[in-house]
Amino acid sequence: MRVLFIGDVYGPPGLAAVQAYLRAERDNYDFVIANGENCAGGFGITRAAFRTLRDAGVDVVTMGNHTFDQPEAAELLEETPRLVRPLTYPRGTPGVGFVTLPTRDGSRITVGQVMGRIFMEAMDDPFEAADAIVEAAGPEGPVIIDVHAEATSEKRVLGYHLEGRASAVIGTHTHVQTADEALRQGTASITDVGMTGVEYSSIGMRFEEVYHRMRTKQPRRFRPAVGTATLCAVALTLEGRRARAIERIRWHAGSPIPSSHALHGRRT
Ligand SMILES: [Fe+2]
Repeated sequence: MRVLFIGDVYGPPGLAAVQAYLRAERDNYDFVIANGENCAGGFGITRAAFRTLRDAGVDVVTMGNHTFDQPEAAELLEETPRLVRPLTYPRGTPGVGFVTLPTRDGSRITVGQVMGRIFMEAMDDPFEAADAIVEAAGPEGPVIIDVHAEATSEKRVLGYHLEGRASAVIGTHTHVQTADEALRQGTASITDVGMTGVEYSSIGMRFEEVYHRMRTKQPRRFRPAVGTATLCAVALTLEGRRARAIERIRWHAGSPIPSSHALHGRRT
């Protein structure tokens, strides 16, 4: 089974890059996941942005610390299990922390999300939440876990914790793709899959306002960067629960799409 995991989609340029990439590549994948917590101009998700991702061919959208930035998010989370927020939110939070769905090749895949606790808002234990996702998935089928966290160490240790039990442990949130993709005991991992947004920016926001705030310590409203986005993703090849390959994708929208042999990655 081939699964595509697209990194944090940022604002309209990010959404446009997803549309363009999947128009050409969707048929090469059995299932597509995208992190969408920044797709509404950097802050959360709207119903319209979620629809855009779904219409482009994304099967499940994961979120993160910006889950509830938009007022309609809570309602949207109750409407569809294809929008997954971190399982580590307090009990009673709207929506689901994982979902099991059929794939194009006839099997079933579980997609879940946990949020880290280092340099982030206090949340439930991501290790226990990840265990709960694996347990709920049962023994069959792939399990993909989005680890939304700030600290590299925490994402690496969660990957270690899930070795041999999850198919893939994919880091999100820090927006810069790392070159540490790995395969161990059938578990693919990467510390951060990267952002799908305008690369010449402060991880998605225009430099000007962020620079002003950092230099003067005076608030200025952040604005999303405009321009052509770069899509960051990983392509996973899976056999049952086990991952056989993880390949990094970093595609500047408008340039030719790389053929699979040009991708960087690990294979068994
Ligand atoms: Fe985030």
